[in-house]
Amino acid sequence: MQPEEETPIEDVLVMEESLWVDGPPVDLFRRLRSECPVHWSREIPILPEEDGFWSVTTADGVKEVSLDWKTYSSELGGITAASDSVIPLELTRAMFIGMDPPKHDRIKALFQRGFTPKRIADHEDEIREIARDVLDRTEGLDHCDLVDDVAQPFVARVIGTFMGLPPGDDVIWARLMNMILGANDPDVNPEGISTVMERDVPEVFERCSKLIADRRENPTDDLTSVLVHAEVDGERLQEHEIVMGFFLLMAAGNDSTKATYCSAMQALLEDREQMEILLDDPSLIPSAVEEALRMFPAFAHFRRTATKDTELQGQKIRQGEKVVMWYVSSNRDETRYENPDHFDVKRNPEHQAFGAGGRHYCLGTALARLELKILLEETLARYPDMKIDGEPKYVVSGFVNQLRTLPVSLA
Ligand code: HEM
Repeated sequence: MQPEEETPIEDVLVMEESLWVDGPPVDLFRRLRSECPVHWSREIPILPEEDGFWSVTTADGVKEVSLDWKTYSSELGGITAASDSVIPLELTRAMFIGMDPPKHDRIKALFQRGFTPKRIADHEDEIREIARDVLDRTEGLDHCDLVDDVAQPFVARVIGTFMGLPPGDDVIWARLMNMILGANDPDVNPEGISTVMERDVPEVFERCSKLIADRRENPTDDLTSVLVHAEVDGERLQEHEIVMGFFLLMAAGNDSTKATYCSAMQALLEDREQMEILLDDPSLIPSAVEEALRMFPAFAHFRRTATKDTELQGQKIRQGEKVVMWYVSSNRDETRYENPDHFDVKRNPEHQAFGAGGRHYCLGTALARLELKILLEETLARYPDMKIDGEPKYVVSGFVNQLRTLPVSLA
């Protein structure tokens, strides 16, 4: 739903839940970009204890914030519009996505070698095998849900392989990650946010502690072992830093690629012309992947906190205020893209879905791109006549931008 055109701009609350029921409020963001590109929301209605926040909506604005980590901190106040309400700030700060340099850079460097495009390309056969195996399980079915039956088991097994987890645990980890990231959505989590804090976060810690103990005894070459045995400035990471490092990789790995694949499939299934272009020429799939990342960034936003009084695009920002970078808006900035709301598989655009190039630029870009390419190739080759046969529904969230269900017929 979009807010009434008449709502005075200063009364708009960008995180108002009703705006996000059918996905991101693209009309509202278009209005903000043109009338008030750095906009103040005085509160988050569903989290009344949280402070208000600045919304940065243009590509230039997002880039400026992203690149200036000294003015816009990831550590001071949290990484999403909600500082402390779902994951306590102390735990956010134990993930390197919630740290500032120099510690951030040192921990990220532990993983960077394993995530280069070349190292990731070594996993192509293994990832394709996982895609085929998941699609094999849909053979003979008339219908399936692309979210639950294809995307989820695929991403869970890929990241599970990287982390060294047994396939039998994929469902458990996927449930935990979905619960925590979709904590606000009553369909995902009918029992409310506090249950996530009291039940699911402790379960992550409990399960992870067992993995950590095991890797201490029996070092392996998976990413869980990298965390357990990492030394930063001559010291091992603390237990909660290992758990949260594991959580960060699992959450990013489980969620984001799934979201983009499903949004891409929905866009293709709703626009037969674009689908035909890809079916005729699958070499355009990498370009379609970039277009899907642009139009449907898996994370609607990330957030920083101002470390000092400053000015952004002519707007004064005070020390301690929240600054939210809306990728769902900057990626449709009409000063960068012609016809930005049109899904065009030939566009091959640059975009900010992985961040805008700052210190926290996504670690998993090469993996995500490869996963998306392979899963789209395999899906289109196997089911060229797939059709949507139910109502696609979104996770209602101003943070994760993803479908909760995408029912299709496979015949
Ligand atoms: C479509 C897929 C993906 C999208 C759209 C995406 C997007 C993002 C974004 C927007 C950020 C934050 C950028 C910022 O704050 O400046 C980020 C950070 C991160 N992503 Fe991804 N991501 C994806 C896939 C993955 C995958 C598969 C992994 C690997 C396991 C991953 C691991 C990470 C990590 C570890 C960070 C934190 C980096 C840091 O703080 O330096 N991501 N991602």
